[in-house]
Amino acid sequence: MDGGVLRDPSCCMETRAMLISAAKTLGISRYLEIGAGEGETAAAILKETGAEVVAIELDPVRATHARERLSKTNGTWTLHEGDAGEILPMLGGKFGLIFLDGPKAQYRKYFADCKRLLERGGMLFSDDVLLYGWVRGEPPKKRRMLVEHIREYLRMLEADPDFTTEYFEYGEGLAVSTKLR
Ligand SMILES: C[S@@+](CC[C@H](N)C(=O)[O-])C[C@H]1O[C@@H](n2cnc3c(N)ncnc32)[C@H](O)[C@@H]1O
Repeated sequence: MDGGVLRDPSCCMETRAMLISAAKTLGISRYLEIGAGEGETAAAILKETGAEVVAIELDPVRATHARERLSKTNGTWTLHEGDAGEILPMLGGKFGLIFLDGPKAQYRKYFADCKRLLERGGMLFSDDVLLYGWVRGEPPKKRRMLVEHIREYLRMLEADPDFTTEYFEYGEGLAVSTKLR
């Protein structure tokens, strides 16, 4: 357990494997990743599934690495460099799978666009929603605000009748939500 420092790594192997498996099972044609980091997961989806990949990354250095990685893989992709809060409202079309892995405090704000952009029957993966057990337990004082943001996001997700959600104890916790209608 990490009592203070929040790392910003690529998602864990189990989450990536589950994303690839869901993409294949659903037979998706488009995949959206919010918070692409250095593009490891986005490139794996591109390589393994052949779906069109759209990814958003704020950090210019990471975005450059992500572009390099994606350009080495055959397939159709777009990397939007900038703030997901500004880019998401401009995206159109539908996605079969959305991986929400950007700033945790913004998940609530991004949810309406994720819902709008997700196909019926599509899946929304929300990463790091249990945060070292703090979300279901007692967070350290300096993390209470972040944990409260995530709790509110999960309450919103669970209260939405258009979604059904399951949790997985992968990495720092993964919520997998299916859009029912
Ligand atoms: C956990 S990392 C992403 C790892 C990536 N999904 C993967 O599996 O390889 C989270 C990323 O979100 C990015 N990020 C943070 N705030 C953002 C924002 N407002 N808009 C877009 N990306 C953001 C960070 O720069 C960081 O690279």
